[in-house]
Formats: sequence, structure tokens, C-alpha cells
Amino acid sequence: MRAQINPSILSADFARLAEEAEAVSGADWLHVDVMDNHFVPNLTLGVPVVESLRKATGTPLDCHLMIEDPDRWAPQYVEAGAGSVTFHAEAAAAPVKLAREIRAKGARAAMALRPATPIEPYEDLLPELDMLLVMTVEPGFGGQSFLDIMLPKIRRTRQLIAKHGLDLWLQVDGGVSQSTIERCAEAGADVFVAGSAVYGAGDPAEAVRGLRAQAES
Ligand code: DX5
Ligand code: ZN
Repeated sequence: MRAQINPSILSADFARLAEEAEAVSGADWLHVDVMDNHFVPNLTLGVPVVESLRKATGTPLDCHLMIEDPDRWAPQYVEAGAGSVTFHAEAAAAPVKLAREIRAKGARAAMALRPATPIEPYEDLLPELDMLLVMTVEPGFGGQSFLDIMLPKIRRTRQLIAKHGLDLWLQVDGGVSQSTIERCAEAGADVFVAGSAVYGAGDPAEAVRGLRAQAES
């Protein structure tokens, strides 16, 4: 599959979100980090901002919910216009029910795993998902260093996807850059979130092209 690059607006200028989205219009998805100050020690944005972003860009929105009680809130992000909604395995009370609800409302359903959460207990849930996110930093902040120790988990997840013959995207998020993206791709990831590596670059559009070229090399 073609490598997908999803710039994270967490590293963008929040006062200029429409322009920052426009600057990466060649990206596959725009990654929107929703944090509630409970599931992670940081607070970002919510449903109204997603609604406005939806109107401001043609790029589909990939909403990563780092929040408590996603069972209650995730459907609202689909209604706000997200094309993909990711909830955390550690926070969801009923992940199968939630994934089905997200899909029924018309978005792609995804589940994320914090670094210390193994994939194996979730093997039977994989057919309910459109994407699995393996976090490669502790969620909460942009600009952290990539955790190399997550590479075996990416590899094992790719093997489980193949074992079940699923059409499931495998996303990595955290510390993905020119110097780490090839290792992620080699381990089996095909969707790459990059915040500081895109918005910290002089030319974000060029950074997206460069990351895609490296992931596909
Ligand atoms: C971290 C977020 C990431 C973050 C990535 O909790 O989920 O999406 O924006 O930022 P970088 O690419 O700078 O690590
Ligand atoms: Zn994220």
C-alpha cells in the first residue's frame, strides 16, 4: 500500500489552523489530537474546533482521541466531520460496541495502544477496526523522542493483521521523522503521523513529500 502521511496539527499554530491545514494539502489526512487533561496531562481542542476545521479544509480529518470515556464522546467527532476516529484501548469501556457505532455513523474506526499496552489481548477485536495505532511515544505531547522498543510491537501487529487476512491500516504516532520513518515502514506501518517533523520544517509540504518518499523507499 502507498504510504500515508498524516501531519499532526498539535505542532501547528492554533491561531492559524486553516492556513496550517492548507500548508499540507498534499497530505493524506490531517491528524487532530484531542486531549482532555485526564487521559493525558494536556488539553487541546474539542468538537467545535473539529467542526470548523472540517469546513476549512478538504483534507479528511483523522481524530486521535486521548480522552477518558470515548464511548460517550467519540460519536460526536464523527458527527463533527471526522473521517476517522481513534479511541484508546485503555479508555474504552466497550471497544467493540464503540467501533461498530463509529462505523455505523460513517467514519473509519481505529483503536490506539499506549506504549505499555500489548496488542495480543486485542487480537479478536481486529476485524472490528479499520486502523490500529501503535503509539511510539507516551501520548500527551509533540516533539518527544521515538521509542525504538515499539518496533517489535509494530512487527507483531502486522503479523496478526496478515494472519487474519485483514485490510487494516497500521498507524504509528510519536517521534516519526526522517530518521525514524524507514524503521517504522520496515516493521510494517503504513500510516505515519508526524507533527514536529512536518510543522517544524521550513516547508511543511516538502516535509510531507520527503517523509512519503522515505517511507516508500
Ligand atoms: C502525541 C500525539 C502526536 C503528536 C506527535 O500524544 O498523539 O500526534 O502530535 O508529534 P511528534 O510527531 O512531534 O512526535
Ligand atoms: Zn496523535
